[in-house]
Amino acid sequence: MNAQDIIALTASHVKEQMQGDSTGHDWWHVYRVWKNAIQIARSETADLQVVELAALLHDIADWKFHNGDSTAGSRVAREWLQKCGLPQSELERVCDIVEGVSFKGANVKTEAMSIEGMIVQDADRLDALGAIGIARAFAYGGKDNRELYNPNSEPVFHSTPNEYRQSKGSTINHFYEKLLLLKDRMNTEAGKRLAQHRHSYMEAYLNRFLSEFEGRDLAENR
Ligand code: ADP
Ligand code: NI
Repeated sequence: MNAQDIIALTASHVKEQMQGDSTGHDWWHVYRVWKNAIQIARSETADLQVVELAALLHDIADWKFHNGDSTAGSRVAREWLQKCGLPQSELERVCDIVEGVSFKGANVKTEAMSIEGMIVQDADRLDALGAIGIARAFAYGGKDNRELYNPNSEPVFHSTPNEYRQSKGSTINHFYEKLLLLKDRMNTEAGKRLAQHRHSYMEAYLNRFLSEFEGRDLAENR
């Protein structure tokens, strides 16, 4: 199989596996990350096939839903790519990215990554920001029985992946624990620029949310 065929086959396999998920990891999330990654890769020198395959496989088995096992994703990705007959060196590069890409807590150190990994991570993070990021956060929060907002609970900056995974804070707190931190953690120049845009939109949204929460908007518009 040539490179394009492997990408197309992987896309349809992942689509079939992830369709209908409601935790924010459905096929359309993967589709957006794939497209974002291709766009970011245009301004970098990177192996586009590795970028595309890693973007497509990056959430194939999320560590948060596998008892914190951070190797589940790369294991599943490896099996699939072996079946496709991807050469070993490319396979290793894709699997390294799948294993390293996910956010594991505000104070959890991230490991060094290849340029292809940085691109996929930026593309994934962009999809957690902006209007789509807001929608995904509340969808995930609902699925995970989290409150929308509780003014009596403060955001927590988690130091271990398990603490982060098991926390039960509100979805609004998640903005402070993760989403608003992402713009300063982008890897590429294009990623930084796009993240800043989406970040500003979320800040405006949070101001509005907190204003409506206390009915201040009503008082101001009487
Ligand atoms: P990915 O692996 O795609 O980077 P995550 O698995 O961390 O993203 O999260 C999927 C989506 O769910 C993201 O948009 C993320 O912000 C949201 N999410 C993750 N954890 C929480 C949480 N505790 N509360 C609300 N939303 C969350
Ligand atoms: Ni993702």
